[in-house]
Amino acid sequence: MTTSAAVAARTQQQPREAAPFVKWAGGKGRLLSQLRPLLPPGIARMRHVEPFVGGGALFFARLPERALLTDINPALVATYTAIRDDVQSVIDDLRGLASRHSRESYYVVREHYNEGRRLSTSKRAAMFIYLNKTCFNGLHRVNRKGEFNVPVGSYKSPRILNESGLHAASDALQAAKIECTGFESLLEKAKPGDFVYFDPPYEPVSETASFTSYARDGFSREHQVRLRDVYRALDRRGCKLMLSNSDVPVIRKLYRAFRIETVAAPRAINCNAKKRGKVSEVVVRNY
Ligand SMILES: C[S@@+](CC[C@H](N)C(=O)[O-])C[C@H]1O[C@@H](n2cnc3c(N)ncnc32)[C@H](O)[C@@H]1O
Repeated sequence: MTTSAAVAARTQQQPREAAPFVKWAGGKGRLLSQLRPLLPPGIARMRHVEPFVGGGALFFARLPERALLTDINPALVATYTAIRDDVQSVIDDLRGLASRHSRESYYVVREHYNEGRRLSTSKRAAMFIYLNKTCFNGLHRVNRKGEFNVPVGSYKSPRILNESGLHAASDALQAAKIECTGFESLLEKAKPGDFVYFDPPYEPVSETASFTSYARDGFSREHQVRLRDVYRALDRRGCKLMLSNSDVPVIRKLYRAFRIETVAAPRAINCNAKKRGKVSEVVVRNY
């Protein structure tokens, strides 16, 4: 059966809900009901562009007909590509990993993943998902050598394999171009009429982290300024733009020429339980 015939056959059997297949820091799942009303009129006809795709909550909720998804994290992007192009192999590999899961096997898989340059694309993707579902707080952190170094989480029985969810994600991704690149490449790739959703690492809110040299996920104040410059350039090009960030004076100042709304966000991933309350975020639009 061809890929499109297989997709059509599955879709006829039972419609499946597409959703992020990884837990991702800053994931927008719980904000969707507040973001949807802020989308531009006529969005159904626009190409959906997400330069900080992460877990892709908005993409999977929208299921656009055409999309460009990019992120600077090569392991994440390789996993998206494997799920789009060879989801059954990823599922088969992940089933094996899930059936052997224990604290001990987590560390064996982590070591193998960090050493395994010759792993197949599907096996690497399966390991990436396995580690994401079983590690501490769904974090993604690598050391200077690029090795994934998050310890095992303390879940009793984590849901590692969601087969129908992976098929649904794969079906959704058939419409997407996926690239590993920094946000500035949008200056070459975005076209007039595109809808672009920016969800960058946020400007820090806490007082201890507020000095300008602090860079969350390597994303410094300088990156925030360069991102604003890209936003301006794409505004002039005729793209429809929506951007999320924390509600702090420096962000409001950077985007003061645009429309700023606030939304109340529950924090999903935070190692400090006391900081899991609601926080105000801004949504900046040029329409
Ligand atoms: C807040 S997360 C996005 C969350 C996503 N919207 C979701 O629903 O899961 C930010 C993403 O930006 C990516 N990133 C960090 N620096 C970047 C850069 N300079 N260019 C492109 N992506 C970057 C990170 O790898 C991360 O996946």
